[in-house]
Amino acid sequence: MSGVPQSAGPDLSVLIAGVRLKNPVIAASGCFGYGGEYGGILDVSALGGLCTKGLTLRPRPGNRGERLHETPAGLLNSIGLENPGIEEFLEKELPRMKSLGPVLIANLSGGDIGEYAEGAGLLDRSEVDMIELNISCPNVRSGGMAFGLDGEAAAAVTGAVRRAAAHKPLMVKLSPNAPDLAAVARACAAAGADAFSLVNTFKAMAIDTARRRPVFDNVSAGLSGPAIRPMALRMVWELYGALRNPDSMNHGRPKGGAECRDGGGSIKGAGALPIVGMGGIACANDALEFLMAGSTAVQVGSATFARPPSMIEIIAGIGEYMRSRGLKTMAELNIRN
Ligand SMILES: Cc1cc2nc3c(=O)[nH]c(=O)nc-3n(C[C@H](O)[C@H](O)[C@H](O)COP(=O)(O)O)c2cc1C
Repeated sequence: MSGVPQSAGPDLSVLIAGVRLKNPVIAASGCFGYGGEYGGILDVSALGGLCTKGLTLRPRPGNRGERLHETPAGLLNSIGLENPGIEEFLEKELPRMKSLGPVLIANLSGGDIGEYAEGAGLLDRSEVDMIELNISCPNVRSGGMAFGLDGEAAAAVTGAVRRAAAHKPLMVKLSPNAPDLAAVARACAAAGADAFSLVNTFKAMAIDTARRRPVFDNVSAGLSGPAIRPMALRMVWELYGALRNPDSMNHGRPKGGAECRDGGGSIKGAGALPIVGMGGIACANDALEFLMAGSTAVQVGSATFARPPSMIEIIAGIGEYMRSRGLKTMAELNIRN
């Protein structure tokens, strides 16, 4: 009897908060609709995961005026979380999304803690595989990024969502605009986060010189794309180090969640929490940089607008790189271990 054939190929699967993704490439929130829209353009089932557009308890029409503006190496957006509301999403979009195959991540937003928690409760009783808690949207007047800028506010919303969605893995999406990202992350870990994703967009702006006024009604917008990649990469690198070696940086400690701290002042378990990096990833080499810096997986947003098959090419490129170096598992890509 012949033996079981040994597969020579690398294993691209990754584990995030107990959820197994077949590969580390996830469509970023707000940049891939609900997945099905891209069905005729690329094999959506080949992706590791899909994040929904930011969902809120009640429907939101989004912002008025200009919503997108290209910059030489990036994209400014001020969508304002346009979405049909969680109930309609669960009824109309979720069944279709579920049938696509990749791990399904619901991106949750809200105007206040009560709204976040109520939305989380609905998602908890649904078929979504994971919640990505968006405390980093720079384009809404209340809630959004306001919760992601300091540890106390971030811990309050993370704790409320954790309690309301006790059955779902919880990934907190961090803001690059926070003055002390590590402090925010530690506070979220103490309040029950299972993973982190970063970065959301950088607060930025543009002026329409012909009309002599800012392009966006809200004046500022969120910058994404290649322009932000080196900064996003640096933030992933630093967060990875800060979570694993809390005393190596003089960051503030969270004010809440004292029961989660160990005797040395670090947050129990925070060091092991996975990071999902993003920001300007457009090709396999970009993704490899994030994976080497300590990301367990990556998300791809703006690149899909510029080149819809990007994510498929990135998955293939990571596999080729691993094969060419004789690497068998994704963990071997991490140069921080
Ligand atoms: C048009 C657009 C809409 C977005 N909407 C959301 C959103 O609803 N929720 C969210 O967490 N991030 C949202 N983002 C941020 C992306 O998910 C991602 O964090 C950011 O764009 C950086 O990645 P990239 O440079 O690959 O695009 C949006 C980005 C863009 C460009």
